[in-house]
Amino acid sequence: MFEIIDKRQLSEAVFEMGVLAPRVARKIRAGQFFIIRTTENGERVPFTFSDWSAEEGWIRFIFMRVGKTTHEISHFEVGDTIADVVGPLGVPTHVEDLGRIAIIGGGVGAAVAYPVARAMAAAGNPVTVVLGARNEDLLILREEFEALPLERLLIVTDDGSVGEKGLVTAPLKRLAEAGEIDHAMAIGPAIMMKFCAATAKEHGVPCTVSLNPIMVDGTGMCGSCRVSVGGVTRFGCVDGPDFDGWEVDFEELMSRQRVYVDDERAADAEYSRGCSCDL
Ligand SMILES: Cc1cc2nc3c(=O)[nH]c(=O)nc-3n(C[C@H](O)[C@H](O)[C@H](O)COP(=O)(O)OP(=O)(O)OC[C@H]3O[C@@H](n4cnc5c(N)ncnc54)[C@H](O)[C@@H]3O)c2cc1C
Ligand code: FES
Repeated sequence: MFEIIDKRQLSEAVFEMGVLAPRVARKIRAGQFFIIRTTENGERVPFTFSDWSAEEGWIRFIFMRVGKTTHEISHFEVGDTIADVVGPLGVPTHVEDLGRIAIIGGGVGAAVAYPVARAMAAAGNPVTVVLGARNEDLLILREEFEALPLERLLIVTDDGSVGEKGLVTAPLKRLAEAGEIDHAMAIGPAIMMKFCAATAKEHGVPCTVSLNPIMVDGTGMCGSCRVSVGGVTRFGCVDGPDFDGWEVDFEELMSRQRVYVDDERAADAEYSRGCSCDL
């Protein structure tokens, strides 16, 4: 059992949680993820480490309430326990000298972008972070990014309630056109990563994306996280989650992400009916 040691609500649907998991915390590197089961009969869901301490033995993650399991866990409190935490999983992000990097974090993707930006800056790369959200209330981790030694932090919201009004691809396009970046990394909804990769490709800028296919076992056995990259089948859990965005078949990824939508809606509705909590 893994004890919850802190919990913070970052916006209406986004939460941050710290969990004691000393053996997991010892081995984590930026870009890796873990799989939890809230209870012994719970479904397995993956989350990315947003922060961790090998010395103190805790991990932290940020999640958006989108369905049954994320609803369930959003009602867990400090002192409650999670049945399983398996990880770290996946190939760590290659933290190397890539030159001037633009890291684009959209929505809850900002949580994944944060440790990557921190590691890239620590490796000596000049880092521009583009943080995107639908509106100011949904923008997360702004203060944490401001505390990093970044070259620039650019904020973009769909409705212009904070920062530039529009989509994250606009500043990415400007940076690429001005020749101010050597590499882009996009982390967020599949549609956002698709357009970031296309924008970067138009300007000849390599673009890494962090994919989020449906995962079950996380060990390369079940095949549910299959993605096509450069016409070759790869597994998100063991070959990724980072892939070359120029080569990813995003249409296939998005269509596979929707396969269980009816079941997911039914499970969430059933959970909501049985839950006396205020959803
Ligand atoms: C490598 C990886 C890292 C992730 N990191 C984060 C993170 O840090 N924070 C965060 O909020 N979300 C993250 N996700 C997505 C998160 O796993 C889903 O939001 C969660 O599983 C939804 O479960 P649910 O029961 O609440 O919702 P459901 O109603 O079951 O599903 C809602 C949507 O979430 C996705 N999803 C559902 N089950 C899975 C699954 N087993 N594996 C992957 N996606 C699923 C599907 O797109 C689905 O349509 C990550 C996904 C992957 C693959
Ligand atoms: S989650 Fe089963 S093979 Fe990747």
